Amino acid sequence: MNIIETIKKRKSSRTFNQVALKPADKRDLESFIFDNSKGLENEVINFRIIEKNNTDKQMKLDLGMIKGHNNYILGTSKSTIVSRVNYGYLLEKVVLKATEMNMSTCWVGYFDYTYFNEVAIEDGFDIPSIVIVGYSEERQTFQDKYIRFTINASKRHSWEKLFFNYKLKTPLTPEYVKKYSDSLEMVRLAPSSGNTQPWRVFFDETLNEFHFYKKSISKRYELRGLHDIDMGIAMSHFELTSLQNELSGIWIKHTKENFNLIDDLQYIMTWKCE
Ligand SMILES: Cc1cc2nc3c(=O)[nH]c(=O)nc-3n(C[C@H](O)[C@H](O)[C@H](O)COP(=O)(O)O)c2cc1C
Repeated sequence: MNIIETIKKRKSSRTFNQVALKPADKRDLESFIFDNSKGLENEVINFRIIEKNNTDKQMKLDLGMIKGHNNYILGTSKSTIVSRVNYGYLLEKVVLKATEMNMSTCWVGYFDYTYFNEVAIEDGFDIPSIVIVGYSEERQTFQDKYIRFTINASKRHSWEKLFFNYKLKTPLTPEYVKKYSDSLEMVRLAPSSGNTQPWRVFFDETLNEFHFYKKSISKRYELRGLHDIDMGIAMSHFELTSLQNELSGIWIKHTKENFNLIDDLQYIMTWKCE
């Protein structure tokens, strides 16, 4: 499937059919995870699919607002910004693969990590978020619709709030970035914790680079590292869309101090167009 269609199709599901993964789906997803375990700055994260039995005690998520979940994808990242960004970047690729395979997903940042005692967490590492994976009815339940409504889940900020010219600091338009308009539009449609959309992208026309910055929207999410995950998710959308549109590039990190000097934004990484 075309990545743009997949990104547009994906949305968080909060009502899962409480069934095991089909063996073929599990195998294909595991093989995708294995082939896509190396991420930003060559850091490897080994994600696992963890299946709980219906007889196991269910973990309460969002006070029981997420129902029927028993299959999870998770791994550990270092307790650093760059590693959490990488976690989001790699795991969103798995989410999109699952979406392409007609499976449902939901990123979850608030969960009980002790529920996953099969995962060893080394010192200096965390499980920064998990993804629930499974199957849902095509028709959304009333509860799903209600939660989406309360957190405005289908809404996204407009371009002028998210994307800027690096030199002039003026908003970018799709006409201005031309062939990169799909890449930025797919950033805009990315999921984020509480739909906070903390990504801000600045285009440097001279160097042909897109700089990704994080705007801390929620103190609570920032403290939990969720905005870092959000950044990685957006970066994966940008990369996958660009590559599909035959726009190659690489992720680099500028070390110059002046990169941190845009108001209240924190510099994360840069896509260097090739
Ligand atoms: C890192 C991260 C953590 C999230 N944590 C939760 C969560 O704990 N509970 C929940 O119901 N949704 C959670 N979500 C889902 C978001 O609320 C959802 O992505 C957002 O509202 C946009 O809706 P959409 O995914 O349907 O496009 C999380 C999303 C991300 C990216």
